[in-house]
Amino acid sequence: MAAVPALPVSLSGRFKGSVAYFTIKDRLPQILTRVIDTLHRHKNEFFEEHGEKGVEAEKRAISFLSKLRNELQTDKPVTPLEDELPDAALWNQYLDYQRNLPNGNGEPSWFQSPWLYIECYMYRRIHAALAQNPPIDNFDVFKEGKAQNFFESQEAIIALCTYFQELLKNIKDLDEKQLQEELFKLLQVSLWGNKCDLSFSAGEDSSQKSSPLQSLENMVPYILVNDMEKVWSLLVNAKKNRTERSNVRVDIILDNAGFELLSDLVLADFLLSSKLADEIYFHGKSIPWYVSDTTKHDFNWTIRQLGSANHMWMSRCGINWEGNLKKGVWVFCDHMFWTLPHDFSNMSDVAPDLYAELQKSNLLLFKGDLNYRKLTGDRKWEYSVPFHQALNKFHPAPLCSLRTLKCDTQVGLKPGQGEQIQASEPEWMVSGKYGVIQFDAGL
Ligand code: F6P
Ligand code: MG
Repeated sequence: MAAVPALPVSLSGRFKGSVAYFTIKDRLPQILTRVIDTLHRHKNEFFEEHGEKGVEAEKRAISFLSKLRNELQTDKPVTPLEDELPDAALWNQYLDYQRNLPNGNGEPSWFQSPWLYIECYMYRRIHAALAQNPPIDNFDVFKEGKAQNFFESQEAIIALCTYFQELLKNIKDLDEKQLQEELFKLLQVSLWGNKCDLSFSAGEDSSQKSSPLQSLENMVPYILVNDMEKVWSLLVNAKKNRTERSNVRVDIILDNAGFELLSDLVLADFLLSSKLADEIYFHGKSIPWYVSDTTKHDFNWTIRQLGSANHMWMSRCGINWEGNLKKGVWVFCDHMFWTLPHDFSNMSDVAPDLYAELQKSNLLLFKGDLNYRKLTGDRKWEYSVPFHQALNKFHPAPLCSLRTLKCDTQVGLKPGQGEQIQASEPEWMVSGKYGVIQFDAGL
């Protein structure tokens, strides 16, 4: 039997000067400080809603978070979770696994352990700070930022909703070539929508200001892997082979709320309206995550905001989408696995139910940088390693990643391609300027 090649090392804060190091040193403490400020700012609201109990809970949450920030900044060992939330045992087992890694670096700690683990762990501890402190246990510390991104992207949202509603008027008359062109446009809007995340900017404004459709052509050279043709072929073939009992199903593993979510919803509506798909499953997060990731609340809130907007095409979108949810042709799901520290190659063991669910899909669209890191294990891969290999046996169904590059891992490039960009633009992997639409056909 051919030897299985060893996996490359994980990205980690122990590599000084890396994005991981910079993120753990600067960006994560900044995010924690913002979370603490947010709680402070809501003190009066907690008092009005819950009286003294609300204020006590806020103080306890703040002290928990200050302790967390101190542990991070002084590179303390990672401690087991002490709450009794449903995923706590899995997190603690994962800590044991990290402790026992044969090539591990001693006791897991903030700067020594894999970055992916540490970063996810921080968001899970933020969640614990609130969840353990009723009556403010349902407070989403990132909610305001997500709403702000939505409102500040208003013009871009109007431009996109207007474009889309105009398109719907004659979608039935479009020939295959025209449908393909529209799909390609909306895939690119959804790709570049991923620039708008708030963990990358440590919570600073990152809304979409200009019309998302105008600059698409100029941005084509920045798509380093462009597998849109493959996505199109898959969808067209699925449509042709569809029988009465077999629906074409597309799953979108969502990333950020705000403008990015809008771009995903428009893409999802296009897939249904063009009859390239019959049903869309959206996968969001079950707890507040990476500052701007979409929870069920954000998803419903966004659709409600659109529905009640003062703009005809925005509200048309919102009302139609509410209808899709009611009819069951759009389904929102939020499995706990998406907010565990495991990369996706572990899904079939850790969350076999979710893996089985994804196997029912014709196409999985993974949005964003964190999903890409979890798809490829967040490792120091050679740029030219095939995407299929980096997926490390994660093949529930054909999949495509739509991701702007914000951290230093990338696979599936042509030989020399990465090195060439590196020579002229050292920041190419972390600036969010480049993107990939990267497809894997599965087994
Ligand atoms: O904090 C770092 C990080 O994981 C980056 O890789 C990326 O900047 C961000 O968080 C998440 O990005 P996205 O919202 O695209 O998953
Ligand atoms: Mg995100």
